[in-house]
Amino acid sequence: MSEARQQKDKDYWQAVVRSADIEAKPKRILFDGAPLVLFRSAQGIAALFDRCAHRLVELSTGKVIGGEIECPYHGWRYNGEGRCTAIPGHVGDIPHYRVRRYAAMERDGVVFVSSGAPAAEPYLHCMQGKDVVVKRVRSSAQSTVLDAAENILDATHTHFTHKGVLRGLTAKRHLVRVEVTGGEGWVESCYTGEDRQQGLVSRLLEGERARTIGRYRHPGIVELEYWGKGGLALATTFHLRQADERTVEGVGWLIGPRQGLFGELKALAFRPLFAFALQQDRRVLKSASDNARIPPQVLSAIGPLDFLRRDIAAIMDGKMPPAAAEPRVYQIEL
Ligand code: FES
Ligand SMILES: [Fe+2]
Repeated sequence: MSEARQQKDKDYWQAVVRSADIEAKPKRILFDGAPLVLFRSAQGIAALFDRCAHRLVELSTGKVIGGEIECPYHGWRYNGEGRCTAIPGHVGDIPHYRVRRYAAMERDGVVFVSSGAPAAEPYLHCMQGKDVVVKRVRSSAQSTVLDAAENILDATHTHFTHKGVLRGLTAKRHLVRVEVTGGEGWVESCYTGEDRQQGLVSRLLEGERARTIGRYRHPGIVELEYWGKGGLALATTFHLRQADERTVEGVGWLIGPRQGLFGELKALAFRPLFAFALQQDRRVLKSASDNARIPPQVLSAIGPLDFLRRDIAAIMDGKMPPAAAEPRVYQIEL
């Protein structure tokens, strides 16, 4: 890959944590394997490489003082631009020292970071600009972005991994039509013909379901939309990123229509149920991730119901998803 292309590839925002996760104390995150410290500077949220220029101590173990971060070893301070502004005990001008700075901004209660210089605003969620109720959530799993994205979008595992929670307790299935379409940087599957869902989540939160849409968008954004006869019932947009080789972190929005108090109550009920289902997914993802490391190395099989995996892999590779040129339709029992 050329350097110009590599640079262009980095020119996008990635959601990293919720705004509420960064208070008075600095916060260390892993961003594509690089340690970053996030803190509130005089100019707003700041993201620096988490390593003091002096003896390389983690700045995130220090303090934020007057919008600057102070290293806990000798007290060197850095501003939000990553420039060293104080060397305690030194008399005279401060020599020029700095640590790498990353672009950072906050939008709708979520912090975005980029290792490039994106011109556009970050994409937030699928109901952006609509009158909806949102709750922000955060999670992590031992997995890859590809496996975690597929897991969220895969309807077929819910019968087993989430029996009783996202699905009923019976093995009853319905004939469902799945349409897969795509374009540059996105692919989606639209499910129609599903009956009223018997899982706990659906019983509490939805009426009759008309349509379910699952979508992957570059970079690492996964969306689910549940549409009822009367409009949107529930939606989620999750931004996933590879924190390090074996950890995926996600931050995102749980979204419901505004229905006065009822909308708020639904959103409140959604969160613990969502956390419960997530725990079930984390277990299978960890099991797969541990097992993938055991020799002999094998490639996982792409089964006939794994509609999106090749398309997501292509998008992650910077290629057009196959569904862009050739939309597909499947009939399955769900
Ligand atoms: S290591 Fe940071 S001030 Fe010395
Ligand atoms: Fe799941």
